[in-house]
Amino acid sequence: MSGPSLKKQDSHSSIHEAALNEAKELRDVVNICLRNGEKEKAVQVVEIVIEHWESRTLKHAEAEEEGLYKELVEEKPELEPLLIQFTRDHDLMRRMVEEMNHLLMKNEVDERLVAFQDSLLMIASIHNEDEMSKLLHGNRKG
Ligand SMILES: [Fe+2]
Ligand SMILES: [Fe+2]
Repeated sequence: MSGPSLKKQDSHSSIHEAALNEAKELRDVVNICLRNGEKEKAVQVVEIVIEHWESRTLKHAEAEEEGLYKELVEEKPELEPLLIQFTRDHDLMRRMVEEMNHLLMKNEVDERLVAFQDSLLMIASIHNEDEMSKLLHGNRKG
């Protein structure tokens, strides 16, 4: 998604919130499976977790880089350093999802996968706050 709805704080923020809430629930499910020693179930949920991050947050990041960020830098070239930082946040999230995928492929499903999800949630949450406060402040309605 790009264009007007990502430019508006309200609609953009609800995209963030929905993805983050779902990601938190999935993290909790993986955690419970591992604690209960249900490895096969954990493997299945981790597959869903990876699919979730790829199809929601990373897709959203891609849409921002190809749409919103390009539009904004054209309107306000002084935003470039900030947009480079935001893109780096996206890259970190991409790397972490890749790492999770490697662990899954090697069938190494253990608490490291929960740690990755915790870290992803923290980065995403700080990144989302910064997009709202530094990039879209003033663009309330939508
Ligand atoms: Fe972003
Ligand atoms: Fe965003």
